[in-house]
Amino acid sequence: MNRLIIKGGRVIDPSQGIDKISDIFIEKGKIKAVEENISIENAEIIDASGKIVTPGLIDIHVHLREPGFEAKEDIESGSMSAAAGGFTSVACMPNTNPPADNKSVVEFITEKAKRVGLVNVYPIGAISKGLKGEELSEIGDMKHSGIVGISDDGEPVMNSNLMRRALEYSSMFELPVISHCEDLNMSGEGVINEGLTSTILGMTGIPATAEEIMAARDIRIAEFTGGKLHIAHVSTKGCVELIRQAKAKGINVTAEATPHHFTLTDESVKTFDTNTKVNPPLRTAEDVEAVRQGLKDGTIDAIVTDHAPHTIEDKEVEYDYASFGISGLETSLPLVITYLVNTGILTLSQAIEKMTINPANIINVPKGTLKPGSDADITIIDIEKSITVDTKKFKSKGKNSPFNGWELKGSVAMTIKSGNIVYKNNGD
Ligand code: DOR
Repeated sequence: MNRLIIKGGRVIDPSQGIDKISDIFIEKGKIKAVEENISIENAEIIDASGKIVTPGLIDIHVHLREPGFEAKEDIESGSMSAAAGGFTSVACMPNTNPPADNKSVVEFITEKAKRVGLVNVYPIGAISKGLKGEELSEIGDMKHSGIVGISDDGEPVMNSNLMRRALEYSSMFELPVISHCEDLNMSGEGVINEGLTSTILGMTGIPATAEEIMAARDIRIAEFTGGKLHIAHVSTKGCVELIRQAKAKGINVTAEATPHHFTLTDESVKTFDTNTKVNPPLRTAEDVEAVRQGLKDGTIDAIVTDHAPHTIEDKEVEYDYASFGISGLETSLPLVITYLVNTGILTLSQAIEKMTINPANIINVPKGTLKPGSDADITIIDIEKSITVDTKKFKSKGKNSPFNGWELKGSVAMTIKSGNIVYKNNGD
């Protein structure tokens, strides 16, 4: 498809401050023009009237599980899931087997993702060899192979000096250090937020402080080194406040939050549904409100899924033994529309900004915009459509979602990557 016109949609592109009914002309996979009433010969027409048209959504925190954990997800199923969720670009975490701590694993991921070809996949390299938190991995080598950040996500970097070196070294390559903030000595064997609910249920808790002391430490190290710090999956009121203060001081820090942390509280664990088991854990109503306010006032820059697919066997066990994680790519956008936009916490444009240009800027990739000359990565959204989440229909291998059966507003109508339709909602 050489020439394509997306006609009559409400085009929202926060990177350019655009919010108007417009057409988009695409040629050879690139955006050529965003204007009213475009008419070009021999162009295929997509009617987007009544729909929202945005830059392709970007999720900078997903687990694609390949290599090593293909029973949970692989690059192909994860890409299909991303496209169905409206995402044209994802950044994948290195906690695979072997971990993405060297250039050959990074190259394997990029090559496989290119062969699948559905979405752009940007690998994140491990901070430490084997994700063991002991020795820095080959960061320069991996940068040359295409990593867009470094993280030991799933595990914190407990050694403060290693975190210092990571922040110093990565800044030479302009890579963000994405920090999974958790003091392992304090979180211990915890499986749920520590508080009233954990006490009532008699379950071992993970205190908010376990996240906050590591966020405070990493902010302090970022200030000391000048490195670029990105705080992953912010879940507590105290963590939001630490980031707010750090930004006010001009420290080089950005942050992200997940849909589950701005919609669910630890009360949902009372069902003992292991799909509510996630790390960091679901917190209290006060924390959920603080995350929402952090999104509203710009303390939290990006919305990410932390898409963490698991097998049925990983989840159909006692709560204590279940794996942490939620399969999130296919419910993110409707959760954002229902709980942030339709409640007036964010405008539609602010929500899209946190799912397009802001995450693109954090990982420093030329995406998240409809500027002429950019790759034609586009998402068409039906914000009025009501949906009922049905995990059986997920493209992801991971059916582990606490949102199964939820009635939400908003649906992806079409996902376009480099001018090619990679997902079309046929209403099934
Ligand atoms: O719930 C989670 N699952 N949190 C993490 O940090 C890691 C992830 C996983 O890899 O399953």
